[in-house]
Amino acid sequence: MVQTDASLTADLSLAGDACNAYGQDIDDLKLLVEYQTDSRLHVKIYDAQEEVYQIPKSILDPPTGAQGSSRDSDLIFSYTESPFSFAIQRSSSKETLFNTSGSNLIFESQYVRLRTSLPEDPNLYGLGENSDPFRLETVDYTRTLWNAGQAFLPQYTNLYSSHPIYLEMRNGQAHGVFLSNSNGMDIKINRTKEAGQYLEYNIIGGVLDFYFLSGPAPADVARQYAGVVGTPTQQSYWTYGFHQCKYGYRDVMWVADVVYNYSQASIPLETMWTDIDYMNLRRTWTLDPERFPLDMMQELVTYLHDHGQQYIVMVDPPISLNDSKSYDTAVDSGALLKYDNGTYFVATMWPGAVSYIDWFHPNAQSFWSGQIGSFFNDESGIDVDGMWIDMNEPANFCGYPCTNPVEIAIEEDDPPAPPPVRTTWPPIPGFPADFQPPTATSSPNSQKVKVKRDNSPSATGNMTGLPGRNFDNPPYAIDNGVGPLSVGTIWPELQEYGGYVQYDTHNLYASAMIAMSREGLLERRPKQRPFIISRSTFSGDGRNSGHWTGDNASTWAHYLLSIVQNMEFASIFQIPMVGADVCGFNDNTTETLCARWAMLGAWYPFYRNHADISANSQEFYRWPLVTAAAQKAITARFSLLDYFYTAFYQQTVDGSPKTIMPLFFEYPNDPKTLNISYQFFFGPSVLVSPVTVEDSLSVTLYLPPEDIFYDFWTGESVTTTDSSDMLTLDNVTYTDIPAHIRGGTILPLRSDAKSANTTAELRTHDFELLIAPDANGKASGSLYLDDGITLDPQQFSNIEFSYENGHLVVNGSFGYDSGVQVKSLTVLVNGAASTSNSSSSTDSYGRNGIIQQLNQGLDAGWEADI
Ligand code: GLC
Repeated sequence: MVQTDASLTADLSLAGDACNAYGQDIDDLKLLVEYQTDSRLHVKIYDAQEEVYQIPKSILDPPTGAQGSSRDSDLIFSYTESPFSFAIQRSSSKETLFNTSGSNLIFESQYVRLRTSLPEDPNLYGLGENSDPFRLETVDYTRTLWNAGQAFLPQYTNLYSSHPIYLEMRNGQAHGVFLSNSNGMDIKINRTKEAGQYLEYNIIGGVLDFYFLSGPAPADVARQYAGVVGTPTQQSYWTYGFHQCKYGYRDVMWVADVVYNYSQASIPLETMWTDIDYMNLRRTWTLDPERFPLDMMQELVTYLHDHGQQYIVMVDPPISLNDSKSYDTAVDSGALLKYDNGTYFVATMWPGAVSYIDWFHPNAQSFWSGQIGSFFNDESGIDVDGMWIDMNEPANFCGYPCTNPVEIAIEEDDPPAPPPVRTTWPPIPGFPADFQPPTATSSPNSQKVKVKRDNSPSATGNMTGLPGRNFDNPPYAIDNGVGPLSVGTIWPELQEYGGYVQYDTHNLYASAMIAMSREGLLERRPKQRPFIISRSTFSGDGRNSGHWTGDNASTWAHYLLSIVQNMEFASIFQIPMVGADVCGFNDNTTETLCARWAMLGAWYPFYRNHADISANSQEFYRWPLVTAAAQKAITARFSLLDYFYTAFYQQTVDGSPKTIMPLFFEYPNDPKTLNISYQFFFGPSVLVSPVTVEDSLSVTLYLPPEDIFYDFWTGESVTTTDSSDMLTLDNVTYTDIPAHIRGGTILPLRSDAKSANTTAELRTHDFELLIAPDANGKASGSLYLDDGITLDPQQFSNIEFSYENGHLVVNGSFGYDSGVQVKSLTVLVNGAASTSNSSSSTDSYGRNGIIQQLNQGLDAGWEADI
């Protein structure tokens, strides 16, 4: 053992007889303990030979090294020699946060087990992706991590992403535990008479690579986690606009129709999306020449861009064997997954027979960038504005073994029947009126599979990780919701370039695709923030991408679930660009559910309406009620867009959770907040409390007594109605959603948001400052401004507002010329409304307060008295 102030290393050897619980014990291990910072402790247990697979640094490269010291650390490591166990203690309180002594460590070739004891009924959050209660269950509960496409988001099973981090709250203090391991695992949380309360990792490979994060505030844990996996990437201003999508827009005219209808309904549509319908027979990197002909697509995109709108299409990862252009290029690049004998792996996805990209191959990036560059091209292709990447768990529809990849995906309606023949364009200026869409005749049944072989020396390599493992049917079977590891995905035994095996890297397939997509988009539009929304993600993917939560259903339960998932991804997993399919993806929505969801979605970072091909159309304009709800919601969102853009920016700087937060993140000392799942902060100061009961018109919400609150819509200060600090609001109609401003806040609102049809237009509007003082008459706020699109912009303003009893001070940095002014100040009144010395009694949004008109630039500091 070698111990210094900052680190400890030791050899561990198997005590007594091998237990061979699920395979072969690894006799010699190494322990590495690093005091990395005062708040971060790294504990790694790995095989002495270093043969066992570890996450490739090209995908995730958490910090190593010991820059801290045990004397200054918030966390103290201790161990017991025989049998080996370790514990982590919080140095200030001496509380034990993690303690493995209750059960022996098992470290085998295909099974690693480590258990920590916990206090009874602990407050645990995270371990995504899941559709379970926000505060995780503590008895007989298993969280399985193995990325899988599971439509309808079933509970108590593994979903699209893997995020092996949990945050625990104890006595008002938070800590985090991140296990940097990409292998499939079951994390069991249970309490029994014999073992007490525990959390146990059961992993089918890899090493134990823990990062303990000391908090003590939940926001500290979030920042510390960002210090390990990276901070989220900044997104363009327009990405916060409203997005519309549907699977089943069967021709370009249909898409144009939707754009037109939104405009007719006066609902601001920022971005139009197209699902796999645009592809020729669902083959990635192709256009259906009949229903989505290139010239019409170009016209559509030009139209959108001319109107300040954007266009995004779906990209699926596998390459169709029948798209000779892409497939031959992929074959030439060598960057396709292969069997051991060098034959390309063939399975099935939407277009029938496909091969899958080997993202570890040195030519993968150039192949992928080439596809992006030629297909998404402002001259010869379609000039799309972002990438929607899907099925990247990755999905495969062919059973194991896949004996007939050609036949498998072809169902009666798959791809859909041709659209009804429509003879005229919808009346959009600039579109020809005489376009005749031909009837599609081709069918995927005519496809022929060419199985190719790559005999180049790099086709096979030495496998990384331990030899002799059973990949398809490992001795310990994780609780994969879809069955054995090979179900619904590509075979775990497939080898990637560099010797990686899918068994180990499965959960990283999307991460690699995301990183290469980002690079491809950057090559195409250098210096612009690439916009990527991915279905599958792993820890750290917020650095490159956003996430939508996949195929939910048009149910009340999934409307509620979206709140929990947003809080988890934004605050715990560091993927703050997140949202669920608004109004629900599967099954038919209803007018009232869609109205409620249109209002809720306006408080998601990523606000997109999307539905399945088999679901009825659910664009907001289809019902008067939903139209009204969406108009009101988008106006509110637009008024707050710079406030939220600022919050998002702040999270990108150091991971401070600023975007969507659960109540306990803001009030960690208030135990009542620990179990609140359906109220959330949108940015640091606006608390949103949606209706949580179907068909109900009332909401009972919690307002933490630490602060005073003002109704966001009326500006009136509110008092809770009972001693438990709850407030019941009745008559919350389908065009209402309760939201409250926390006292002590200054919100920079865009004025007259209602008249802006796009975010580009909104950016030309002046600001009005809304000042909501705390009980001491003070308030503060910030505003970050830049051009909204450039990656790492050199010109930006970081403006701080502070207010105290009638006096406002504005300072900060003013490097970006926004060309707009602050038009007015409104000070909300705590207590009974009073408008005595005001020049007007309501602001432009109808809020009561003390109002002062000004025309103040935002290019230097200033002060004002009100
Ligand atoms: C997947 C996606 C869904 C998409 C569909 C067709 O189910 O999750 O959003 O509409 O595939 O591409």
